[in-house]
Amino acid sequence: MYRYASVVLCLAIAIACQLSHGTEVNVKDKDNNICIYANLTVNFSVSYEVANNKSEMVNFELPAEVTTDGSTCDNTSSTLKLNFGKGHSWSVNFTINEKQYQADTITFSYNLSDTTVFRNSVLNDTATVTVKPQITDVGMDTCYSCKSKETLEADSVNQTLWDVLIQAFVSNNSISEKITSCAADLPVTTVAPTTNATTAPVTPATNTSTAPPPPPTTTPTPTLPTPTAGKYSLKTDENSTACLIANFGLRINFKSIEMNFEPNGTTVSGSCGDNSSQLVLTSSAMTIMLNFANDTKKFRLHALNITGKTSSGVAFSEANTNLSLWEAAVGSSYMCNKEQNYTITSQLTIYTFYLQVQPFGVKKGDFSTAEDCQADAENFIVPIAVGVSLLVLILIVLLAYFIGRKRNMASSYESL
Ligand SMILES: *[C@@H]1O[C@H](CO)[C@@H](O)[C@H](O)[C@H]1NC(C)=O
Ligand SMILES: *[C@@H]1O[C@H](CO)[C@@H](O)[C@H](O)[C@H]1NC(C)=O
Ligand SMILES: *[C@@H]1O[C@H](CO)[C@@H](O)[C@H](O)[C@H]1NC(C)=O
Ligand SMILES: *[C@@H]1O[C@H](CO)[C@@H](O)[C@H](O)[C@H]1NC(C)=O
Ligand SMILES: *[C@@H]1O[C@H](CO)[C@@H](O)[C@H](O)[C@H]1NC(C)=O
Ligand SMILES: *[C@@H]1O[C@H](CO)[C@@H](O)[C@H](O)[C@H]1NC(C)=O
Ligand SMILES: *[C@@H]1O[C@H](CO)[C@@H](O)[C@H](O)[C@H]1NC(C)=O
Ligand SMILES: *[C@@H]1O[C@H](CO)[C@@H](O)[C@H](O)[C@H]1NC(C)=O
Ligand SMILES: *[C@@H]1O[C@H](CO)[C@@H](O)[C@H](O)[C@H]1NC(C)=O
Ligand SMILES: *[C@@H]1O[C@H](CO)[C@@H](O)[C@H](O)[C@H]1NC(C)=O
Ligand SMILES: *[C@@H]1O[C@H](CO)[C@@H](O)[C@H](O)[C@H]1NC(C)=O
Ligand SMILES: *[C@@H]1O[C@H](CO)[C@@H](O)[C@H](O)[C@H]1NC(C)=O
Repeated sequence: MYRYASVVLCLAIAIACQLSHGTEVNVKDKDNNICIYANLTVNFSVSYEVANNKSEMVNFELPAEVTTDGSTCDNTSSTLKLNFGKGHSWSVNFTINEKQYQADTITFSYNLSDTTVFRNSVLNDTATVTVKPQITDVGMDTCYSCKSKETLEADSVNQTLWDVLIQAFVSNNSISEKITSCAADLPVTTVAPTTNATTAPVTPATNTSTAPPPPPTTTPTPTLPTPTAGKYSLKTDENSTACLIANFGLRINFKSIEMNFEPNGTTVSGSCGDNSSQLVLTSSAMTIMLNFANDTKKFRLHALNITGKTSSGVAFSEANTNLSLWEAAVGSSYMCNKEQNYTITSQLTIYTFYLQVQPFGVKKGDFSTAEDCQADAENFIVPIAVGVSLLVLILIVLLAYFIGRKRNMASSYESL
């Protein structure tokens, strides 16, 4: 009966069930409607104490045979509890957050007196660890899917989850065919390195024949604070003055994940040349390579390569070697105080704040005259507006004066 049901389920969500070999369960609510569906694989690695202050390590899998006693379903929160073996359990709490749901915690309890698993354990009680999974921002009425491995580490337990397909808050007794994929499953496009970075157009190497998983439901990411402006200068040797200077605050947006570049702790390297200069900034989160070209007495940013990791651990490397940004005459600097955004690749956008850069012809370690970006020209509107309103004010004063004078003349006739 159960098998039959799961076959039907597999036909219903063909993508979802392919190669399912993990643990599959349906939790039903009091009206006997499905409210949580889960199909997942979990490996546990537990270290426990044995005699003589030593510890043992044991690895085991979440078995296919589980019971769901203790699972609960509610309109705004629910719990999936999988009980297995001699008193072990693995449970996940879900809550709704506006139009999304998330897993708040995973709790794993293991019975140390189960000697078939924990041989020679000196303790005989039940231990519990709680970890926070990365299952967040799952669209309502969608399945969370993550084929990639995610390891959750707690004191003495590592849990590895993969081939995860979960839907909480199932509506109408039917599991959704829509998927919210985890970040780790999304393809990361990297740009093939070009040997001679001159005019090679860069095309992201995407393979459209492999059906990409649907993008995760984009969430309004909380707006980050304005990034701290960094001051970077490059010297040819320790006694010389700077040959390249750049000041800016930087935010990057990789596939809708926003990150501020932290100047504190950043190391600066690179090279200065007559025709090209390079600035390399390395922070703990990313490495940024900026290549400037001096051609026909003008300089420009012609290549940018950003390599790093998002806070969720997704590695990326995005580059464009065919840019023409931040152009100004050699011997001057390029300045743009206002926030600017530049699309570098289809996946990467950068935002700059308080930008001033001079990659060639730096004198006495300081910026030469700045060529302002056009965006700053908008700032001239403010002085113009002030001027116009001053003019209007003068006209009003003059008008009032003449009217006053007329009245005065009239009243002086009366007083006579
Ligand atoms: C185990 O370690 C504790 C302190 O950590 C020590 O007091 C105790 O003597 C040790 N026992 C053995 C058997 O080594
Ligand atoms: C999961 O655990 C089983 C049993 O210990 C092991 O055979 C398997 O290789 C593990 N898989 C992964 C991905 O760690
Ligand atoms: C833990 O395992 C022991 C031995 O198998 C068993 O007697 C006991 O009932 C288990 N504890 C729980 C809470 O199930
Ligand atoms: C657990 O261990 C304690 C001593 O460490 C012992 O007194 C108790 O009887 C044990 N309980 C079980 C169920 O084995
Ligand atoms: C958990 O993983 C970390 C990092 O891989 C490792 O150092 C640690 O020993 C592991 N712990 C267990 C209990 O497997
Ligand atoms: C970007 O930098 C990374 C790391 O240094 C490198 O592996 C990659 O080839 C570079 N990409 C391009 C297009 O230069
Ligand atoms: C795209 O993917 C298909 C199937 O996975 C593969 O046969 C093909 O070689 C890939 N093409 C490229 C350009 O990677
Ligand atoms: C820098 O100057 C110091 C003393 O002024 C000198 O000892 C040192 O050799 C110089 N270093 C270089 C790289 O020129
Ligand atoms: C920079 O980082 C260091 C240590 O990492 C810290 O002591 C210092 O306060 C930081 N400075 C700023 C301006 O954040
Ligand atoms: C920039 O390039 C021109 C030739 O294109 C050269 O004359 C000039 O010296 C270069 N400027 C710097 C600062 O190296
Ligand atoms: C810079 O470019 C100019 C002309 O484009 C060339 O004459 C000069 O040799 C180049 N300098 C270097 C250092 O490559
Ligand atoms: C990028 O800048 C333009 C104006 O320069 C602005 O209209 C647009 O909203 C900005 N885009 C983002 C995503 O901030």
